[in-house]
Formats: sequence, C-alpha cells, structure tokens
Amino acid sequence: MRVGVFCSGGDAPGMNACLRAIVRSAITAGHEVVGIRRGYQGLLDEDFYVNSNGEAVMRLRSVSNLSKLGGTKLRSSRSEEFRTEAGQQKAVDMLGKHRIDALIPIGGDGTFHGAVALARRWKGQIIGCPGTIDNDLLGTDFTIGFATAVYTAVEALDRLRDTAESHERLFLVEVMGRHSGYIALYTALAGGAEVVALPETETNVPHIVQHLQVLKARGKKSIMIVVAEGDEAGGAELLNDNLKSAGCPFQTRVLTLGHLQRGGSPVPDDRILASRLGDFAAQAITEGETGAMAGVINHRLILTPFTDTYAKHKPVPEELLELLRTLSA
Ligand code: F6P
Repeated sequence: MRVGVFCSGGDAPGMNACLRAIVRSAITAGHEVVGIRRGYQGLLDEDFYVNSNGEAVMRLRSVSNLSKLGGTKLRSSRSEEFRTEAGQQKAVDMLGKHRIDALIPIGGDGTFHGAVALARRWKGQIIGCPGTIDNDLLGTDFTIGFATAVYTAVEALDRLRDTAESHERLFLVEVMGRHSGYIALYTALAGGAEVVALPETETNVPHIVQHLQVLKARGKKSIMIVVAEGDEAGGAELLNDNLKSAGCPFQTRVLTLGHLQRGGSPVPDDRILASRLGDFAAQAITEGETGAMAGVINHRLILTPFTDTYAKHKPVPEELLELLRTLSA
C-alpha cells in the first residue's frame, strides 16, 4: 500500500518521533510512505516531502535523528480550504491522483474532525495519532506533546517562584490548553502552585482571596496561581484585576506562556508515547483497520473511533484537584 502521513493543527513536541515510527514501521511492513507537508492544505496543494534522490517518498533514512527534534519536519497548518465541501472533494481527487491507499494524520480534534469528513467521501483507510499539547482527547490517557508542554511550563513556574519569593509577590501564569484544564492542573501540581483556575471548575474570586489571606497569615511569602487559557473567568489578566479589586493581600504580576509551551525537544515520555503510537497506527493500517485513533489507556494500546475521541469533554482527574487543594496549605 501507499500510506500518506501528515501533521495537522497546532504542532506538538513528539510529532517528529511519531513520524519516524510510522515511516519505519510502515516500510518494514512492506508499504511505501508518502510524506504530505502542511497537513490537509498540503494535500490540496500536492506539497509532498521529497527525499535526497528527488523522489516523493519517505525512506528509512528520511527520518534519521528525528526523535529529539521539536516542531514537525512535515510542517503543519490549519486549512480553511479543507473545511469546505469543495476542498474535501479536492482532497479525495488528490488522494486518487497520487494512488494513496491509507492515511495516518497526526493531530488533535480538528484533525480528526477532518478525517471523519474525508472518510464520508473516500474509501481509503485512516488511522490517527493524537498529537496535541492539550491532552483533550478521549481514547488515550495522554496525547503526544502534553508531557513536554507541562515540563516547559513547570520550568517557567520554578523560575518565577524564585522572583516571587525574593519580592514577596504573587504570579498569575496563564498556560495553553484551549478548552481543557489538563496542562494547567498538571503544571500547578508539579510546580507546587497554591491555586489553579480551570474551565472545568468554578473560579470563585472571593474564595481565592480568602484562601490567600489565610496563607499570608501563615507566613507564605510567594504565591503561584496557574490559569488555564480556557478558564471561564476570562484568563490571567482579568483574574488579576478581579483579585486586586477583591482585596488580594499580595502584590501581583501576570505572565502568559503562550506558544513557548509548543516548541522544544520532546521529553522522553513523549518520545516513547509517540514511538508506540506511530508503530501501532502503522500496524493497524496493515491489519485493515480504519476510522480510529491510536491511544494508550492504562499502558495498553487501543483504537478508539474518531468521533468518540472528541464528542465529549475529557474530564480532568478530580483526585489531582483535591490533592492540590490539600497541599496548598
Ligand atoms: O491545540 C493546541 C493549542 O496550542 C491550544 O492550546 C491553543 O489554544 C491553540 O493551539 C493555539 O492555536 P494557534 O497556534 O493557532 O494560535
């Protein structure tokens, strides 16, 4: 078979390790691999990876030394054209023109919405790999890139804690995650934050101020509040204004980490997850599977239909929230 592989949506550390695994496992199974650059848009534009011999196929050596690299060698995009009916039909025509039998997209919920739309018109197989820092997909305990994004955010928190402690200040640190509080919760717990503001829980300003007053009375010199970008209270800047109006007992500063969390070399956990899922996706293609995402639940590899990965909100672990509250003393 000719297997097309591409990355789509926001890049995530570990996408390259996943690509390496897909290419090597698929070639070992006897398939030919076509690297599609710039996601769905690249398919529409016939933008394919070309190897050192000038051929539009990926070889074993095309993915050498890739595991340690952040970003994505195939680049990524969010395609407006592919969202249209005409764009999806064009994608089907391109897949036929280039004799592609199966696709392995690496991306998040937008990528899998696209895969479902494509599957309505195209008879080929599609198996996805979850590549997003947000960890907002059901069907896998963790997505590729999440562990690295948390690592990066925790490193920032550790640095800020030094300054917060020196100046007896409170820092509000806004982290990514679109509609999910996963990055915020893991960052807060690992970084020893006193408060976390998530879209999954109500952010009650008077309660937070009351808690801060108790902490100050107990001699706390520095405070870290991690805010998820999707928090219903409106983000770190607004929360800061509201805390100050409600009598926050600390001097405050605000920092938004933004895209800093998306880049950088993947941590080993992400490389291993990406390698396992890439290999598993290639195997699933060989076995004739389609319409599903490769994931790991309780250390076991599993396929989940695309629609089940995004139809419901993935809840954050309640016991971790409780633990953070207990330790914020
Ligand atoms: O989905 C990954 C993510 O980084 C989200 O956390 C964030 O909301 C979004 O992408 C940002 O998108 P963009 O890179 O297009 O600004």
